[in-house]
Amino acid sequence: MNNHIEREKIPFKKIISNNLFVFRYALSMNPKVIIFSFFTNIITTVGFSLFSTLMLKMVIDAVMAKKTFREILTIILIGMTAIIILEVFNICTNQYFEAKITNISGKIQRVFIKKAARIDLMCYDNPKYFDDYVIAAAQAEEMLGLCVTSLSSLISSSIAVLTISGIIFTINPIITVFPVTGFFVNLFTRYQIIKTEYEMNMAKKIVARKSDYSKRVFYQPEYAKEIKLSGIATPLRNQFDESIEEQRTVAKKYGIKIAVYSLINWITVFTFLSFFCLPAYLGYLALVRKEIALGDVASMNTAANSVRGRLDQLNYVFADIQKVGLYAERFRKFVEYEVNIEESKGTKELPSELSIIEIKNMSFKYDGSENYALKNINITINPKEKIALVGHNGAGKTTFVKLLMRLYDVTEGEITYGDSNIKDFSIKDYRDNIGVVFQDYQVYAATLSENVIMDNLNENSEEVALTSLQKADFSKKLQSLSMGIDTELTREFSDDGTAFSGGEAQKLAIARMFAKPFKVAILDEPSSALDPIAEYKLNKSMMENAEDASIIFISHRLSTTKIADKIYMFENGEIIEEGTHAQLMEKQGKYATMFEKQAHYYVEE
Ligand SMILES: Nc1ncnc2c1ncn2[C@@H]1O[C@H](COP(=O)(O)OP(=O)(O)OP(=O)(O)O)[C@@H](O)[C@H]1O
Ligand SMILES: [Mg+2]
Repeated sequence: MNNHIEREKIPFKKIISNNLFVFRYALSMNPKVIIFSFFTNIITTVGFSLFSTLMLKMVIDAVMAKKTFREILTIILIGMTAIIILEVFNICTNQYFEAKITNISGKIQRVFIKKAARIDLMCYDNPKYFDDYVIAAAQAEEMLGLCVTSLSSLISSSIAVLTISGIIFTINPIITVFPVTGFFVNLFTRYQIIKTEYEMNMAKKIVARKSDYSKRVFYQPEYAKEIKLSGIATPLRNQFDESIEEQRTVAKKYGIKIAVYSLINWITVFTFLSFFCLPAYLGYLALVRKEIALGDVASMNTAANSVRGRLDQLNYVFADIQKVGLYAERFRKFVEYEVNIEESKGTKELPSELSIIEIKNMSFKYDGSENYALKNINITINPKEKIALVGHNGAGKTTFVKLLMRLYDVTEGEITYGDSNIKDFSIKDYRDNIGVVFQDYQVYAATLSENVIMDNLNENSEEVALTSLQKADFSKKLQSLSMGIDTELTREFSDDGTAFSGGEAQKLAIARMFAKPFKVAILDEPSSALDPIAEYKLNKSMMENAEDASIIFISHRLSTTKIADKIYMFENGEIIEEGTHAQLMEKQGKYATMFEKQAHYYVEE
């Protein structure tokens, strides 16, 4: 936990450069609105400050100069008109920005969603990276707004302070000592408070992970069954209680420090300097030294408090600038993260004909993992060949698929397609070549046809969706849906959304693969949720519809993999046996043992 906070200490120069980075970023979102809001803030702040000081001074001066009532009334009327215009301007522009801000927020979120979709999968394996991105995305809007207002307040408050101080200087320069001293005390204490609050929030976020997880799990429909039927609710609740207790300890530890600094701040700045020293000194000047008029006591008291008010605002502005600077570290990391795999443009044309896939001495380690998930893998897949990967849970089969799809790059060795390393092709061209069904597919809150077609929309979409669903043995279910392929899936957005059974969802995932043309098909456990008849139909359909494709399929049911041209048996990330079903049975090794064990459970076709 401490390490995490230690890393957050960043130098002043970096804080400034981070603020400028965020400001430029905000500008790029909507330059007109940002510049307009920037100057509006300056005009209104300076206007209100000058008004509050000058108005009182002008009226008192006029009274002291024994002007007529009419003349004094004119001054008050002009002042009143000015303040009304300023207020109307302020209200109108605030409303205008309120409307515009939704637009800008949408734009920021869009940029973030787009980036998140391209971030390398590797980042999702590392909780630190993941935390950074989630925090950056969650705070992006707040931070951009804060950065624009704090930079414009920095300018407007500085102008206000300089002009009002100028007025005070003409009366008695020593008066400025009070607000300036208050400013420095405030600067120091606010800096400590913000820093402690930041450290507290970061520390809380880390210990809150467990309670956030529990909160999420208890509300998500996919967990509801197990929460009710298994005993998992108890350890989760214990985790939750532990986490709340940890958060309480963190809040207490930092809370005491914050309270002490707040008290010092209040007593010195407000009570002592503003309410006691300043009026006492002004009284002394007027009554003992007789250097200033009685009217000036009132106007200088207002002016000095106004300067202190503006300087205080500057304190908050500095604190905000510091806050933006700290948070922007994550924001910058996210925005500047150079996407590696997903941006690959490639240097070579993908062969137009189905080509040989060769996996040569390939090894792979997940980021942060000590052990190799795959070690020294050599596989050749000739065009149109059907190969099967088998092996126990955790053997490395899915990892192999992820590498073949270039969701990760290999640690050692290479994968070639045709004569070239797959890294030489544009990632889009390469992936478009392959149809894939993953073990952990998802059903999205969209229509059935959108779930099948995905981004492949065109005028034939409906037809493609229907034939793909048919190829995946989904036709019977489709007939039972009154809205057909326009059926809304999941209950996320509407109460009458349709929920599928495990097998139906799996067929949907398979239909997705058929919806796009492919030269290579990869199926990771495509029939794990299917009943035996559905599995038989799927295998038949695959053979008919992917006759001209190379197929790699993974299955725990060896009766299915039996038909493959070649079978590879994985264990602990290595290939321990390879050959046709007949060869492997003859060898009487681990494959044969596994097959024979399963034969007891399955009646072979
Ligand atoms: N994202 C990840 N980060 C770290 N290790 C991982 C990750 N994904 C998988 N592993 C590890 O890599 C090894 C291989 O996992 P993989 O998912 O490839 O197995 P599998 O053969 O597909 O198993 P199953 O039959 O259960 O699907 C396992 O030990 C697993 O714990
Ligand atoms: Mg797997």
